[in-house]
Amino acid sequence: MSKEKDRRSVLITAGPTREAIDPVRYITNHSSGKMGYAIAEAFLEKGFTVVLVSGPVTLSLTHPELTTIAVHSADEMYDACRPYFPTVQIAVFAAAVADYKPAEVHTEKMKKSGNELSLQLVKNVDIAFEFGRVKQAGQVSVGFALETNDEEQNALKKLDTKNLDMVILNSVQDQGATFGYDTNKVTIINRDLLGRTFPLKSKKEVGKDIADAAISYANHQHTN
Ligand code: PMT
Repeated sequence: MSKEKDRRSVLITAGPTREAIDPVRYITNHSSGKMGYAIAEAFLEKGFTVVLVSGPVTLSLTHPELTTIAVHSADEMYDACRPYFPTVQIAVFAAAVADYKPAEVHTEKMKKSGNELSLQLVKNVDIAFEFGRVKQAGQVSVGFALETNDEEQNALKKLDTKNLDMVILNSVQDQGATFGYDTNKVTIINRDLLGRTFPLKSKKEVGKDIADAAISYANHQHTN
């Protein structure tokens, strides 16, 4: 991060991605965007400039210091983030990005034929991983780990592979947590492997906990 004025700026991805099969069908997931938008609100309340790159959701947020970019697919999300990532102090990857997309997008609606249909999928870009490769000293990146089993082990693996500074572990096993709910239950683990598990809270409160943890980590980096 080169410029003083870029301190107190954050890039956030939120919501699901939609991967087109044909003009009327797509692959997606249950993310509502509530978690990512709550994080954006928390950073705005702390005086940050926020760029929110959002998959298709029904939420809206307006603020003079907020730029929202609406995207559909993982490729679009990555392209929208690229100009901003080098300029921000903190990046939070809260989006539920589809890991795979159809190998071919049919230009016309696929016709029904036969009893079975196979769809070939190819790997999508891993946005957090790609930015982890080019992260500069002083930049802090925060990723999520959405897990169903071996939660902590998988979260630590993501911290490492994606070169994150902090990972927010949430488990679909927890009642009232993750997709769609207004509440979430998270464990925040940072690079020093310090973990803190929070109780079930509103996503707005969880957003504040995540913003506080990321800002305090970034300030600590800056003074060292
Ligand atoms: O949107 P809500 O309904 O409020 O729900 C919130 C949430 C459950 C979606 C959110 O809290 C969450 O867990 N988001 C991340 C979901 C996910 O894709 O987790 P993952 O373990 O598969 O991915 C790990 C990290 O890599 C995440 O930071 C993800 O944004 C990022 N990633 C993953 C795949 C990919 N192709 N690109 C990425 O950037």
